[in-house]
Amino acid sequence: MKVLIVGSGGREHAIATCVAKSKRVSKIYCTPGNAGIAALAECEPIGVMDFDKIVAFAKEKEIDLTIVAPDDPLVAGLVDALEAAGLKAFGPNKAAAILEGSKAFSKDLMKKYNIPTAKYENFTDADAAIEYLKNSKFPIVLKADGLALGKGVLICNSYEEAVDGVKEIMLDKKFGTAGNCMVIEEFMTGREVSVLTFVDGKTIRVMTSAQDHKRAKDGDQGLNTGGMGTFSPSPFYTEEVDEYCRKYIYQATVDAMRAEGREFKGVIFFGLMLTPDGPRVLEYNARFGDPEAQVVLSRMKNDIIDVMEACVDQTLDQIELEFEDNAAVCVILASDGYPLSYEKGFEIKGLEKFDGKDDYYCFHAGSKFADGKVVTNGGRVLGVTAKGATLKEARQKAYDATEWIDFDNKYMRHDIGKAIDET
Ligand code: AMP
Ligand code: GLY
Repeated sequence: MKVLIVGSGGREHAIATCVAKSKRVSKIYCTPGNAGIAALAECEPIGVMDFDKIVAFAKEKEIDLTIVAPDDPLVAGLVDALEAAGLKAFGPNKAAAILEGSKAFSKDLMKKYNIPTAKYENFTDADAAIEYLKNSKFPIVLKADGLALGKGVLICNSYEEAVDGVKEIMLDKKFGTAGNCMVIEEFMTGREVSVLTFVDGKTIRVMTSAQDHKRAKDGDQGLNTGGMGTFSPSPFYTEEVDEYCRKYIYQATVDAMRAEGREFKGVIFFGLMLTPDGPRVLEYNARFGDPEAQVVLSRMKNDIIDVMEACVDQTLDQIELEFEDNAAVCVILASDGYPLSYEKGFEIKGLEKFDGKDDYYCFHAGSKFADGKVVTNGGRVLGVTAKGATLKEARQKAYDATEWIDFDNKYMRHDIGKAIDET
């Protein structure tokens, strides 16, 4: 069969790597893809929001399954557009992708269906939000309602800081229309864990856990980024935690979406905080995480096409997920200056050192071809990933492999997976 992957980052490269392993797949296309994905797929320079062109391309190439990976096209309804043209697509439709597209919606859903999360209020008016802050405890968390590249969350330590935050989000529109509405919620403490799941509208299958490192600098300092590295599994995601989440969070979310007439098919990413009072939902995403996909999918034993088709066809109850009994670590090589300003266009050297090495992957996040060379083309450039028998071994191998690569302004965190040492 022929598969089209929509997207251009490390997550999409990890998905393409899994799809390429499927015996059922004869040809992979990617819009727009990148220089790494191009080794596995025919890349076509169509932007992820150019729905008409994507649909026309999928029809022309007689694509059997289109995998929509990023949040923006999902929330804007690319799956609906593909389905309207009679094409099969993996991912939630627009009505279901609101689970990620609106934080106010997801908070109201959790409240209505008793799914454990931080206490909160939603606001569409800045004065009302500021009035509410007068009687609040600090720190407190402000969240722009809509998509904001993972940057629409402010943790405020005082009333004054929070008032400034409300003004930034609602009046100055720092995150654009994402700030027309906002959530103010209780600050929680604990370890964070990411749990990805496959969902077919009714049945949910839980993948292995992972942990991201969102801050730009070592020691969780610096600005929030899309993610600077991941490890999987999380040793903090114990059997007890898993049992609790299955009982009170995962199936409850799927059932709640169904009850709302927003049947969810695709991947639900549960961002969890393991608080002293038990696991709480920090956020939902309607897609694979990036760079969570890199460490989770590289450990998955199933044929990804079987699982994705079961989500679309609502036969996921017939599938059991299987993961390797090992660990994986992904270290992001970024352009110095990310997530603010950075330069692009530098030659990436050493990529061939990954060829033919089992257990090592170099997922491209921001790369392209220029004059026959592979050059940097983004803030996050590569996700150097390794598998090992243990988390420590995987981390050692991943950091060793970061040395194989060289490009100007190469930047990385040196403490991805440091939390492993505490277990
Ligand atoms: P989100 O985009 O909702 O996942 O938020 C981004 C990051 O902000 C999370 O990964 C947490 O580190 C932090 N965060 C979000 N909500 C809270 C909260 N209620 N309490 C503490 N930290 C939070
Ligand atoms: N790594 C977090 C995300 O994909 O949103």
